[in-house]
Amino acid sequence: MSVTTQSRPRPGPRPGRQRILIVGAGAREHALARALSGHEILFAPGNAGTALLGRNVTVDATDIDGLVALAEDERCDLVVVGPEGPLTLGLVDRLAERSIVAFGPTRAAARLEGSKAFMKDFLRRHAIPTAAFALFTEPNAAKAYVRAAGRPLVVKADGLCAGKGVVVANTTDEALEAIERMMVAREFGAAGDTLVIEEILPGEEASFHVVCDGTRGLALVAAQDHKRVFAFDRGPNTGGMGAYAPAPVVTPQIHDAVMREVVEPTLRGMALEGAPFRGVLFVGLMIDEGKARVLEFNVRFGDPEMTVLVPMFDGDWLSLLEGSARGDLSQVSGGTKSGAALSVVMASEGYPASPALGDRVEGLDRELPAGAFIYHAGTRARGEEVITSGGRVLTVGAYGASFVAARNVAYEAVSHIHWRGEHHREDIGSRALLRERSM
Ligand code: AMP
Ligand code: GLY
Repeated sequence: MSVTTQSRPRPGPRPGRQRILIVGAGAREHALARALSGHEILFAPGNAGTALLGRNVTVDATDIDGLVALAEDERCDLVVVGPEGPLTLGLVDRLAERSIVAFGPTRAAARLEGSKAFMKDFLRRHAIPTAAFALFTEPNAAKAYVRAAGRPLVVKADGLCAGKGVVVANTTDEALEAIERMMVAREFGAAGDTLVIEEILPGEEASFHVVCDGTRGLALVAAQDHKRVFAFDRGPNTGGMGAYAPAPVVTPQIHDAVMREVVEPTLRGMALEGAPFRGVLFVGLMIDEGKARVLEFNVRFGDPEMTVLVPMFDGDWLSLLEGSARGDLSQVSGGTKSGAALSVVMASEGYPASPALGDRVEGLDRELPAGAFIYHAGTRARGEEVITSGGRVLTVGAYGASFVAARNVAYEAVSHIHWRGEHHREDIGSRALLRERSM
């Protein structure tokens, strides 16, 4: 068996202040920088918020050659890769060839997110609980399967589609249309040449993040995202409109079951198959009647989940990320703080279909209420002004002693910020709030 090692570590971490390159441009990357504050940080490419915590360099997050050259020229001690794109393109493998320590999985290990067909087959091989499924590489066979099933199903494009490649089809016609768009019209290009068609799972979702070193995993507090654009889960799916942690649906029993039935067999299986997993394994769970099943794997931190994971982690983020990158978490400890964190995504007009860009953001100079935070995503600086440059513009949240405290402060901070056409959900965390009230 050949086990590819991900990085040939240098002798050891340099003590003191490190020079760290963070790859990406979202609220996740801004939150990562806050988690690593005290160190010297470069961003590729970053946003208007990250520019205040370090130096933005205009290298795109998918420009692998440019990123390797940047990390080398700047003699970075650690590269932290935010989004999945560069991971599936093999950025971490390329950095390892230059002996640059990087947080994130190799290209082979990133297939857990990059190919849903690989992921589902992997789960089947290792008897990890997930929705029953079938794989198709030919549209007529997929359509025949859907017609014969005659019940609601989920149609998923195999490859990365920026969150748009999943259709929960309530009718056979919707499923047939999804197959037509993905496989015949090739709306997502090669990403739709293979399809996963699976059972619809009932239940409540949770985001379960585990930082891994190839053999061990350290679980962070379970979080919950809000995927639909409008309150009460109406409207189309988005990258995420808000998050909170801890997610009460992940009871201690479910936590233990996920570690035993999902995380441990995944780490063992990936190592056995020659692609040991380092970086963060973000398990998208569906939980129903006390049983958790895997909806998806991501191989990076969730966004907006990261904005609530950062304030809830009780430990040293650099040791955690570096321990994972070097393949040894045995000396790293970290727990979860008491209290709760909650964050609200402020989006531009027209998001997610066609976000308006170029509006001036007002109110960022107001003093933040205690416990509140603001992370930038789709922003750019124009002189002294901050201008919208993407669909999800800011993630504004708070850490507090309880959900109600975190929620009140988060929405107070949101109320101070404005731009033309801004919208956000008013119901972030409402499930957890209801539970907290009934306790
Ligand atoms: P994925 O990218 O696979 O997580 O899918 C995106 C979203 O589609 C998930 O967060 C769920 O809300 C929904 N979804 C995916 N697969 C299923 C399933 N088998 N049953 C119910 N909902 C699903
Ligand atoms: N918020 C979900 C994700 O990052 O995929």
